Amino acid sequence: MPQNNALWLPRRGARFEVGPAPYTPPGPGEIVVRTRAVAINPVDAIPGFAYRIVLPWLTFPAVIGGDVAGEVVEVGADVTGLEPGDRVTGMATGLEADRDRAAEGAFQEYVVLLAHMVSTIPDDLSFEQAAVLPLTLSTAATGLFQADHLGLPLPTPDPPDRGETVLVWGGSTSVGGNAVQLARGAGYRVVATASPHNFDHVRSLGAAEVVDYHGRDAADRVVAAIGGSPLAGTLAIGSGSVPKTLAVASRVPGRRRIAAAQPAFATRAQLLLRRRHGVHVSAIWGGTLKDNEVGPAIYRDYLPTALATKTFRAAPEAVVVGDGLDRIPVALDRIRRGVSAQKLVVRI
Ligand SMILES: NC(=O)c1ccc[n+]([C@@H]2O[C@H](COP(=O)([O-])OP(=O)(O)OC[C@H]3O[C@@H](n4cnc5c(N)ncnc54)[C@H](OP(=O)(O)O)[C@@H]3O)[C@@H](O)[C@H]2O)c1
Repeated sequence: MPQNNALWLPRRGARFEVGPAPYTPPGPGEIVVRTRAVAINPVDAIPGFAYRIVLPWLTFPAVIGGDVAGEVVEVGADVTGLEPGDRVTGMATGLEADRDRAAEGAFQEYVVLLAHMVSTIPDDLSFEQAAVLPLTLSTAATGLFQADHLGLPLPTPDPPDRGETVLVWGGSTSVGGNAVQLARGAGYRVVATASPHNFDHVRSLGAAEVVDYHGRDAADRVVAAIGGSPLAGTLAIGSGSVPKTLAVASRVPGRRRIAAAQPAFATRAQLLLRRRHGVHVSAIWGGTLKDNEVGPAIYRDYLPTALATKTFRAAPEAVVVGDGLDRIPVALDRIRRGVSAQKLVVRI
């Protein structure tokens, strides 16, 4: 069996430590991937005390991390469509309440992944760039396609023009970039927000209109950009996005539904607002995608072809912080200072 090593979090608030970890063979529905690159998400960098609020179920020592790209080394008995040697990207679900399993955390050399949350990637897509996708792709897909959120039709290679608009507030975030592309792939016109220096980036992902979200008149300018096209739904990403999108959704024609990527406790406080505006607001948890038909529809059925035909891009740009598990804490420090249309990545 291969020798495995992991970046361990011994307990809440402790320092990360690189050390040996068991090699865990895949169970039913699982595969093992030799990690070649991991990407860093804001949730990976939360301070120790926040674990009690965001991930209260997590047992320690833990291996965190949600984004993996690498090569399949072993597949579980009932897994079809994936085999050893395949180049893949996938969402590591070790932090989910019903998994809570160190073997499934991304930050290790050999990681167990759920096969239906893994996509093969084309040869011309590097592991570093492919690693930017999974958690934020899952979060965007949860908001857009799950029935408990916007419940839009799934993306296809040649979607019909649905004559409606999806608003992505926070289009230059990683979640937002995936949302813009997925909504286009589902046949919608997209209006998004970003800082002006990211307008071209967000347009290149398929947004028809991009609006600066700064300033007191931001909601007015978004309403103007939506124009007469009915809203099919809204994704609210970034702090302060729920009140802003409420102000938009209550003033334009179409569906008054907002799916918010903000932490549930922050969103819940704002749900009260919805009564005033007659808008339905729901709080996204990207990990729920593993439990319904949308997960395999995106990872198995849509993404491999969409990446190969370049109708979907692994965005934003990967910025490689270094090589080896011991560089991940450096990347965590860096994400705490903020990124703009970039994804921090570590080669493993
Ligand atoms: N619920 C879930 O399951 C889940 C999962 C993943 C992420 N999230 C949350 O979703 C958000 C985005 O995550 P991410 O990884 O995609 O972020 P990210 O890529 O690290 O976000 C960076 C971008 O945020 C934009 N931004 C900063 N403040 C903003 C604001 N007030 N409104 C709109 N955009 C703003 C900046 O855009 P400009 O540079 O263009 O200004 C910057 O490009 C975070 O709050 C994260 O915690 C939730």
